[in-house]
This record gives sequence, C-alpha cells and structure tokens, in this order.
Amino acid sequence: MTLYRFVKEGDQISEFDKIANVQSDKATVEITSPYNGEIVKLYGQSGTMIQVGKPLVDIMTTSHQQSKIKFTDKDEHKTTKDTLATPAVRGLAKDMGVKLDSFVPGSGSDGRIMKHDLNTQKQTSDTEEPFKLVEMTAFQKSMVKSMELSMNIPHFSYSEKVIMDPAIQLRKVLQTETSMTKFSFMPFWIKATSIALKDFPILNASIVEQDGQGTMIKYHNDHNIAIAMDTPQGLAVPIIHKVQCKSIFEIASELDILMEKGKNNTLSKQDICNGTFSLSNIGSIGTGIGAIPVVLSPQVCIGALCRIQQELDLNRNESDNQYKIVSAMTVHWSADHRLIDGATLARFSGKWKILVENPLLLLADMK
Ligand code: COA
Repeated sequence: MTLYRFVKEGDQISEFDKIANVQSDKATVEITSPYNGEIVKLYGQSGTMIQVGKPLVDIMTTSHQQSKIKFTDKDEHKTTKDTLATPAVRGLAKDMGVKLDSFVPGSGSDGRIMKHDLNTQKQTSDTEEPFKLVEMTAFQKSMVKSMELSMNIPHFSYSEKVIMDPAIQLRKVLQTETSMTKFSFMPFWIKATSIALKDFPILNASIVEQDGQGTMIKYHNDHNIAIAMDTPQGLAVPIIHKVQCKSIFEIASELDILMEKGKNNTLSKQDICNGTFSLSNIGSIGTGIGAIPVVLSPQVCIGALCRIQQELDLNRNESDNQYKIVSAMTVHWSADHRLIDGATLARFSGKWKILVENPLLLLADMK
C-alpha cells in the first residue's frame, strides 16, 4: 500500500482534517485527524510503501499532548477487503437505498456486513432530525407580513446614475465647519426626495378602497420618509416624519437619533408608523452594483441607493478635453405600476438627480 500525505510539519489542523490517503489496488482510504493541533513530525516519504501499525505523523494537540496518528488494522481492512455480504444483505441494502461500502468493516467474521449493521445505521439516521424549527423574531414576523403585502404590487423599476462629487465636497465642509461631525449622505438624499416629491405628489400617495366610492388615490400631505435600517435585531424601517418641514440639519440629527434607537432596540410604534415613501441605503453595506427594492405597501415608491464608486466619466472636460474620474452612485427606484407610470418615475428621478448633484439647493431649502 502506498502512502500519500497532505500535511507538513508546522501545519495547524483540526479534528477530521485529511492527513493522508493510503492506496491499494482495490481502494483508497482517507486517514483523518482525531485531534485539533499542530503537526510536529512526519514518518515515511509520501509516495512510498507503508505497513500496518506504522505512524504517519506526530501531532501536538491543543491540550499539549504529543500523539501519533497511525495506519491501523482497521484502515488496512478498508483498503484490502472487498465488501463481504450475503446476497440477501445486498438485496436489503439496495431496497433501503444505502451503499454497502459505508458499512465496511461489518460486524461479522472477516468484516462481513450483517443485516443488523444495516438496521443500526438506518435507525441512527432515522432518529436525526433533518431540520430544526426556530421561532421567528418580531422583526422577522413583521417582514413576512409586509413582504406578503408587497407581493400584490406590480413592480416597475427605473435606475439613474448620480454624480456625488459636489455632495462629497459639501459634506466635508459641513463636517469640519459645523458642530455636526457625523453627517452622512442620507440627509442629502432624504431632503432631495422631499423637494422632488413636491413636484410629484402622486409618488407620496396610496391606493385605497373607499366605502361606496371604490378605488381611490390618497395623497399624503406629509412626506414621512421611511429609512431601511440594518439593526442588530434585523431590518427595521423607522420614519422621519414631515420631512417637507425640516432642514437638512434637522434631518441629520433625527436620523442619528433613529439609528441609536435602532441599535438599542428602543424604536417606538410612532417611530415606525405612517411612512409614505421609503429609501434604502444598501451602499453603506454592500459593494454590489445594483439592488432593485421592493415597494412597502401601502406606499407606492421606494429608492435603493447603491455604493458611491469612482469611475471614468466618458464625457470629456470642456476646458482641457481630458477624461476625468468621478464619484458616481446608482439609484434604483421601484414603484407600484398600478398608479405610477414610467414617465412620472423617470421625471421624478431626473429632478432628484439635479438636486443631489447641486446640493446647495438642498441647503437653500431651509424649511
Ligand atoms: N456609498 C458609499 N459610502 C457610503 C454610502 C454609500 N451609498 N452610504 C454610507 N456610506 C458611508 C458613510 O459615508 C459612512 O462612512 P464614513 O464613516 O467614512 O463617513 C459609512 O458608510 C457608514 O455610514 P452609516 O453610519 O451607515 O450612515 P448612513 O447615514 O449612510 O446610513 C443607514 C444609515 C441607517 C441607512 C445605514 O446604516 C443602514 O442601515 N443601511 C442598510 C440599509 C439596508 O439594510 N437596506 C436593505 C433593506 S432590504
């Protein structure tokens, strides 16, 4: 039998890691480690013959004991013996859908596989649960409910590339020249959404069934912007209410408070109720190039902000005719196509892009 070793001195290995293969002309047997630890000594050359009882390696276990891992009788048996079983046992194994090889050696003489070997194995696997049941958290339960409602919405999506360099510059100034040291991009995007919604109130509406009057459109006066938030408990969607009445600074401090509450699991019912439009900044987490968001019923529109990334702008500079690198971000809007048509969403997105790319307009709107 030939030894093929996979480890070298100094390797850290865990229990069940593969140490070596021992190959005969009938079969190959895998030798695995019974310990966690470090390989401290090798015996014999890989590719040479090995005899039963010889050590393969010494291992210094994590409990500081030096142990030998050997090529044993049992290993040898696996490499040299054909599977021994009567035709009846072979037939039974076939009916049970199990491979005889996995029972070698059996409990009979010469390692013969017996009927009760098959039954013992079958009972063991029958008693192991193939799954475990875990109760959902409150956050998960509410996600099930809201996503089931979202499934009734025919979605339509529209994507836009937005240049973020001016906002990056302005953010730096605000962080250094005001008391607001933590001022993320979200307040820019939230404020731009509210200003753009003034021109497209249908995106801040809901479809409602009114007794006796059938299906109607409910236009919400307030821009209650829901922010998808990754919290230790899972996805929460707290709301900044009446954004149309707030400055970008007020939005920034309210967002901070909501993030803190999200972190501490202290968001109140008021914090999560009556959203009329949603934003999800997935770019603060993932580097993916896109995420098509799902509209949260009864709202009709949601925007997903992707990661701000540097890229080559294929429009040459007018001054020196050179290409330049810009910081760009893709925003993906999804809307309820029962109420919102593509043209409306594209125009809204265009307006939003102008506002974000000219962020002084966001500061100028102080209410
Ligand atoms: N691209 C690149 N960088 C971004 C970014 C983006 N789109 N959004 C945020 N960042 C940066 C921030 O500038 C900040 O960096 P800095 O500390 O170097 O200044 C950092 O990422 C962390 O930002 P964060 O503290 O998360 O604040 P935020 O105001 O940008 O985002 C939340 C607030 C609540 C939206 C965000 O924390 C969150 O939870 N996002 C996940 C939303 C989600 O799970 N969506 C999927 C719903 S299914």
